[in-house]
Amino acid sequence: MSPQEPGLFEIIQTTRAMRQLKPDPVPDDLIDRILEAGAAAPSGGNNQTWGFIVCRDEDLKKQVQVFYKRAFDEYVLPHYESRKEAPPPGMSKAQFERQLDRVSHLTDRFHEAPVWIVACLDTGKRPPNYLSGASIYPAVQNMLLAARALGLGATLTTRHGIYGKEVDTLFGLPDGVHSYAILPVGYPVGRFGPVARGDVKSVTYRDRWGQH
Ligand SMILES: Cc1cc2nc3c(=O)[nH]c(=O)nc-3n(C[C@H](O)[C@H](O)[C@H](O)COP(=O)(O)O)c2cc1C
Repeated sequence: MSPQEPGLFEIIQTTRAMRQLKPDPVPDDLIDRILEAGAAAPSGGNNQTWGFIVCRDEDLKKQVQVFYKRAFDEYVLPHYESRKEAPPPGMSKAQFERQLDRVSHLTDRFHEAPVWIVACLDTGKRPPNYLSGASIYPAVQNMLLAARALGLGATLTTRHGIYGKEVDTLFGLPDGVHSYAILPVGYPVGRFGPVARGDVKSVTYRDRWGQH
């Protein structure tokens, strides 16, 4: 790493959801590096029952976007409406409103991202439970960090999961395999900047919950 390149902690603090992407194609070798970072992640028992679909198929992306948009109208808009007076920790009302604008922007143009990485996990005959994601989201986060390090924008999205069965069928996933995240990847329109979060001290406890 040269002294100019951002270090790990700066990468972590500036890996934001980059929802505005340029249409420029992303070279295969950069996608390969992102995938290698993903596949370096831990998984339960080191089982690595994951699979990553690199999707550039315009028609397929558009078919998935229809479900993604439907879920936005049905769930996301009402959610923002109900929370607009109480934004998340570390965010002002104005920032929260801007976030909705960007979420809406990505929703409308989801399929226009030059490439998607779809993170899938095979849980076999057992239905996925609340711990299943623990064996795929470390890989997803590694890929987000790797994309950021390479100057590429990406967003962790899971909303398609509201229509998970329909979307998994579109991707041709066999029984027992499910899609856990879709990462739309491309060169960002805006610049990387610091994430907005609450104060970690207020959510850090000594020995027992609630003890500061
Ligand atoms: C479990 C999970 C699901 C998410 N799903 C979506 C999604 O479907 N669409 C989207 O635009 N962003 C999605 N996000 C991104 C979050 O909205 C985003 O990370 C959060 O608002 C913080 O913004 P920042 O990453 O820009 O700091 C998701 C994030 C997580 C952790």
